Amino acid sequence: MPQSYLVCRADELKDGDRRVVSCDGTEVGVFKVDGEFVAWHNECPHRQGPVCQGRLYKRVIEPLAADGTVRELAYEESVTNLVCSWHGYEFDLKTGANQGYDKVKLRKVKLEHKDGNLYVVV
Ligand code: FES
Repeated sequence: MPQSYLVCRADELKDGDRRVVSCDGTEVGVFKVDGEFVAWHNECPHRQGPVCQGRLYKRVIEPLAADGTVRELAYEESVTNLVCSWHGYEFDLKTGANQGYDKVKLRKVKLEHKDGNLYVVV
């Protein structure tokens, strides 16, 4: 039966912050991104690395010039990616999707926001 686990007070997390918590052996990463809270199992779908402890970057894109060549790299400011530190797989922090292979996704964890506190349900 699922149980709720206290993460922290919601106002402790600013955009870009995270908490990785252990819930009786299940690790969960809770993030604040663009004013929203999201939670993922701390287990990468590639080889089960601790994905929630990876770095956060804006998505890197390669804009094409008129002749079809790539002249520069740029950041897509509207998308924050979580990068697994084991082999570099990247996931959209809001959706959990890997942009290169849509069958590879982070596993979502239910979040509850009650009385100013954040809880995860696992
Ligand atoms: S375990 Fe995360 S990229 Fe391989």
